[in-house]
Amino acid sequence: MLDIEKLRADTPGCANVVHLNNAGSALPPRIVTDTVVTHLRREEEIGGYEAHAEAADRVAAVYASVARLVNAPRERVALVESATAAWDRGLQAIAFSEDIEPGDRFLVSAAEYASNVIPLLQLAQRTGAQVEFIPDGVDGTVDIEALGHMLDERVRIVAITHAPSQNGLLNDVVGIGDMLRINGSPAWYIVDACQSTGQISLDMGRIGCDVLSATGRKFLRGPRGTGFMVVSQRLLDDAQPFPLDLHGATWVSDQEFAVQPDARRFESWEKSYAALLGLGAAVDYALGCGIDELRARIDVLAQELRRRLDEIPGVQVRDRGSERTGIVTISAPDPAGIVAGLRAEGINTSYSPPDYARHDFAQHGITGLVRISPHAYNTEAELDRAVATLSRLVRESGR
Ligand SMILES: Cc1ncc(COP(=O)(O)O)c(C=O)c1O
Repeated sequence: MLDIEKLRADTPGCANVVHLNNAGSALPPRIVTDTVVTHLRREEEIGGYEAHAEAADRVAAVYASVARLVNAPRERVALVESATAAWDRGLQAIAFSEDIEPGDRFLVSAAEYASNVIPLLQLAQRTGAQVEFIPDGVDGTVDIEALGHMLDERVRIVAITHAPSQNGLLNDVVGIGDMLRINGSPAWYIVDACQSTGQISLDMGRIGCDVLSATGRKFLRGPRGTGFMVVSQRLLDDAQPFPLDLHGATWVSDQEFAVQPDARRFESWEKSYAALLGLGAAVDYALGCGIDELRARIDVLAQELRRRLDEIPGVQVRDRGSERTGIVTISAPDPAGIVAGLRAEGINTSYSPPDYARHDFAQHGITGLVRISPHAYNTEAELDRAVATLSRLVRESGR
């Protein structure tokens, strides 16, 4: 059982705001900020390279922590600056190493995030391939049977957002991985776990994807400017990141270089070690709480929010899926105005605009949403305040 009082005592921001924007950027626990600041102070005191050398063991431990979080060998983990950087580096490696030809197909989930679809569209434009959306099933998540029917040898990439930014649904990335394997699909499988990391347990072995991308600052509660990618052995064996720097490869003779054997080939040489150590502290904190415990608590709060928001005239809960995350989305008159009104009352939520997931929004005729995303440290009393304020703002906007 989680000790909510302790979670809150560990989280200084709880004293200042009702933070229901954990899908944006969560309130970090004190240990995360302390870890970052301590390392920055050390850089100030003895120099950046020297502080890094001193922290070598703690830096290595961050890879081990992330590996534990996703149940993967640590050699498959790369630490990067964002989920987008992680996702892009996976795609860059695939695009550099494969001959993508006219008529090849990239399949994406209907609720796919814009930053994943845009580079696939770029690649499609350059090669003559095409991007296709996998239809949703009856519960509003990726229809795995329909995916099975779409698969053929021209499908080169399958990209799935595990937990979309703009809906509480959770796609069955294990079932999708199984479908690719059952069909013997040669496609590269990319999973965007940006919003699920920290609230849903992830098992790289069971998902069986080639690239899993994640960010530090959302449900994991790490510092901004952190992220990670976890890759398959197949990606390491058959694809090469482009471009490589002197951290990802070694220049061994005038005409030759040797690629790093592990996933660190996807990293850049320069990084914020303060932020990286902060990410490690966040992962350890989440693992210490227990991801399943966090999920259960977040689910209670999210379900309660959905139930109560649905009762407000003029508000419609938009979340789909039989399994749901801590992302609660509603349509209401003037969603951006509601988010601003809540913010003015010290309640943080966010506005999801249609261009973040154009296909999904268009398919459901939605033009903008209020996203309310609780974390385990939120309380029922905070939900009461948020629901009452939101209800008043919706009433006022109708006048
Ligand atoms: C589903 C999803 N994927 C990817 C991203 C991008 O993450 P980052 O900003 O860390 O690159 C986001 C950000 O909101 C997201 O919600």
